[in-house]
Amino acid sequence: MTTKAEQLFEMINARNSDGLLSEPAPSDEELAFAIQAGLTAPDHHRLQPWRFLTVKGDARIKMGEALHQALVARGETDEELFRKVRAQPLRAPLILVCVVHAQEHPKVPVQEQILSTGAAVQNILLMIKTLGYGAIWRTGAITGSPVVKEAFGLGEQDIIAGFVYIGSLSREIPVRERISVDGFVKEWN
Ligand SMILES: Cc1cc2nc3c(=O)[nH]c(=O)nc-3n(C[C@H](O)[C@H](O)[C@H](O)COP(=O)(O)O)c2cc1C
Repeated sequence: MTTKAEQLFEMINARNSDGLLSEPAPSDEELAFAIQAGLTAPDHHRLQPWRFLTVKGDARIKMGEALHQALVARGETDEELFRKVRAQPLRAPLILVCVVHAQEHPKVPVQEQILSTGAAVQNILLMIKTLGYGAIWRTGAITGSPVVKEAFGLGEQDIIAGFVYIGSLSREIPVRERISVDGFVKEWN
């Protein structure tokens, strides 16, 4: 294996999720760089089906209210659950809402556009980690709620692929053991 391939593997393998995130968030420039890495994801017919919204500061409170309203619309009445969901966006200084801006295309089904956006998110996670910050990709049961979509100003064709919580790390998480490919791959003929 070349040194370059080993180095790339080390960077990929070092990515891990962490939900314990604090100030400061990456700078606007760092975040733009991470998103730029996202935009290099494989993308059938170059549809660029992804959109990103940043949520920081008091906007996180507004996001919590939107999550709360989504639960109300679903018929929930549990005050404890409302409190929990309203606090969720405050778990990190920055949330990147990753959206599939799904387009109708004769050769590119929506499923491929979702996959492309997932690949973009992975690139973003890798770059965030490499810049020295932590992140976790979350969805939760109400990500698909029309109330949440409307609150973010999204259209009917948009799909929220995830909320990526981003911030500074406050602990070391050990790098994962290399995972053996045995059991995942076999030769077909
Ligand atoms: C589409 C998607 C949605 C996810 N949603 C959640 C979530 O809502 N809450 C959560 O704790 N983890 C969620 N995860 C898993 C974490 O992002 C993370 O990948 C997992 O905890 C494994 O940790 P690792 O990334 O360090 O391997 C989700 C992952 C993906 C790909």
